[in-house]
Amino acid sequence: MNVALPLRDIVLFPGTFRPTHFGRVVEVNAISRILETSEPVVAIQQVEPGDQDPEGAEFHPVGVVCQVLRVIRMPDGAIRALLEGFERVQVTAPVMIDGMLMVKTTPMPEAPSDPVRYEALGRELDIRFREYMIGTGVSASDHDVMGADASDPERLADQVLGNLDLTYKERIVGLVGLDPLARLEYATDQIVVALSQQRIATEINQRVQSAMDKSQREFQLKEQLKAIRAELGDAASADEDGELFEKRIEESGMPDEVRDEALRELARLRRIHSDSAEYTVLRTWLETVCDIPWGVHTEDVTDLRAAQKVLDDDHHGLEKVKERVLEYLAVRQLNPSSKGPVLCFVGPPGVGKTSLGRSIATALGRHYGRVALGGVKDETEIRGHRRTYIGALPGRLIRALVRAGSSNPVIVLDELDKVGNDFRGDPASALLEVLDPAQNHTFQDHYVDLPVDLSQVLFIATANVHDTIPAALLDRLELIEIPGYTEEEKLEIARRFLLPKLAESHGIEAAKLKFDKTALTRVVRDYTREAGVRELDRMLAGVYRKVARQIVEEGVEKVRITEKAVPRFLGPPRYYGELAERVDSPGVVIGLAWTAAGGEILFVEATRMPGKRSMKLTGSIGDVMKESAEAAMSWLRTHAGEYGVDPESFDAEFHLHVPAGAIPKDGPSAGVTMVAALVSIVTGRRFRTSWAMTGEITLRGRVLPVGGVKEKALAARRAGVTDIVLPARNRNDLEDIAPELRKDLHFHFVETVAEVLDLVLEPGE
Ligand SMILES: Nc1ncnc2c1ncn2[C@@H]1O[C@H](COP(=O)(O)OP(=O)(O)O)[C@@H](O)[C@H]1O
Ligand SMILES: [Mg+2]
Repeated sequence: MNVALPLRDIVLFPGTFRPTHFGRVVEVNAISRILETSEPVVAIQQVEPGDQDPEGAEFHPVGVVCQVLRVIRMPDGAIRALLEGFERVQVTAPVMIDGMLMVKTTPMPEAPSDPVRYEALGRELDIRFREYMIGTGVSASDHDVMGADASDPERLADQVLGNLDLTYKERIVGLVGLDPLARLEYATDQIVVALSQQRIATEINQRVQSAMDKSQREFQLKEQLKAIRAELGDAASADEDGELFEKRIEESGMPDEVRDEALRELARLRRIHSDSAEYTVLRTWLETVCDIPWGVHTEDVTDLRAAQKVLDDDHHGLEKVKERVLEYLAVRQLNPSSKGPVLCFVGPPGVGKTSLGRSIATALGRHYGRVALGGVKDETEIRGHRRTYIGALPGRLIRALVRAGSSNPVIVLDELDKVGNDFRGDPASALLEVLDPAQNHTFQDHYVDLPVDLSQVLFIATANVHDTIPAALLDRLELIEIPGYTEEEKLEIARRFLLPKLAESHGIEAAKLKFDKTALTRVVRDYTREAGVRELDRMLAGVYRKVARQIVEEGVEKVRITEKAVPRFLGPPRYYGELAERVDSPGVVIGLAWTAAGGEILFVEATRMPGKRSMKLTGSIGDVMKESAEAAMSWLRTHAGEYGVDPESFDAEFHLHVPAGAIPKDGPSAGVTMVAALVSIVTGRRFRTSWAMTGEITLRGRVLPVGGVKEKALAARRAGVTDIVLPARNRNDLEDIAPELRKDLHFHFVETVAEVLDLVLEPGE
């Protein structure tokens, strides 16, 4: 059985194409099915074109195997498609199966009865048909393209019958009723009639034409042109487009140079047809250019106290940062043309760098835009593609400017340290142009291709670390470090900022859900381990979601979250008691690292196995860290005697591992930690739980200063460390450390490796 497509007012002939409209359910079902399965389909013809319901209708016993092309689904569920007919087949009366008509088919037994007459008729028909087609305005070569000629009279007859202006009934006769020879005769009769009609029509036209005077003709031509355009598509909308753009260009406040160019392109737009690809490209460009907020300028809030209030209302703490921001705003106010550096907030994730940028916009009363630079590798992402590309877009900067909607917004260049560069041009150099006051009043986007003034934009940058920011950019930046929050600060941020925001976004009134302070502390300590507050925010959101469900499902009125209840909402603690558990055997010690995520505690594990004298290092550690390990080993072997270690105990295979293995780690500051791990394994002396250390070592056993002391101290306290061993020359860094941190942590300053070992390892037996 084959799927059948019932046709009722058009007739599809083999070798011809027919655009067709399908609105009836059986038709829509049939087309959906064949689009899915691509099985062959047979067009069958209704006897009575007026029958609306194909189920009861009668059909002619001949159908045409066909193909469905260019399917367009209309909004009302109907389908427009192009049918291509292939060959006649005999069909059985259709039956309904699964909402579709199905028929059985058998090939037609066809062979002309009088071959000589058949071919002669074919030649005659070909000549007449050409004449007819030329009369309708189709050129002879187009006709050939249709592929019908005297060598295949049968195909030619179908072409003729398909193309002449015939009634449904007349066409049906040609499709179903006749054997090949009779069909050819029938087609010849029809073309003779058509030709004589054509001649008469031409004659009348000529009379009319000469009778008409010039103005009438012009009028008629215009009307015809309109009719043709309407037929081909939306001439009217094309010109509406033109008027719309004209208005937008005039009102946009573009600089003259830009306006002239835009008007020139608009004139071009009006000349080309609205269906062409070029039209779309040009229109999109004009739209973008008009969208750029050329003349839109917001007034700055000049009251610094009001600005300070906004900053305070949005962010807890960060005193130094806010102070610096306000100074910066003051200078810009006194000297608007001052080309000072661009502020760049540097710190671990979740400390509020991005949201500070937004706050600054609010504080100044400016619009806000953000350009995410993470993973941007290609200059064109910043500067856009030339518009000759189909689907080309302006770069991210222009898009941010358009979204901001004013020519002097605050734009945050987010995660500047994540900009990569590769062979497709260097995004950093495009950014440099953006940030350079000497160049940014004529910023060139490849797509817009007209200078855009960015000099009124207040740029703010953010980064996790500053050492991967390209040096040329670094030159233009003033770095402001945000090291991370203490536990007290996190609690305060949660209470004053995160919880109210969550209450609002979850539609739970603040009075309905109360957190005990001890419960919040528990979430901070046992469920998060981070410098910022992002994970904390996520955890608290988890609680809000569960409570929302209780309110809706169980009609709960009020919820109080106590310390004991936290695991009910968040599951077992995620970081509980890790320290003590992990350092309970010799060879495992704790160091402190400074990464893009802020400070972190670092476990270093050493083991010794029987084998050839060697040392293996694992855990994604970089070259500098490997060298530290070598230095640690050399120092230990030189001083083995002092620690009561038999030199022969080095005839073994050592393995140093730094979990978690997938996170790359590098830098020299793990030197002391490596020595301690090795000494611990060869002497069997255990590491003191709740201690941690950091420091670079020399071969002579001196301890050198390291970076990131603040971040490391925060991380240590987070993890439950009580005592930190630091290089003596880092003593000054303590001044910056929050008082509550200093209260909880004991700092021990050392100058030599020997001192470190005395402090962090338990005495041997
Ligand atoms: N000091 C703070 N006071 C109030 N909310 C803060 C503070 N620091 C961070 N947040 C909040 O934490 C979330 C994460 O901040 P975000 O700006 O995305 O961090 P970053 O850009 O540094 O990774 C935001 O909802 C932000 O408002
Ligand atoms: Mg951010």
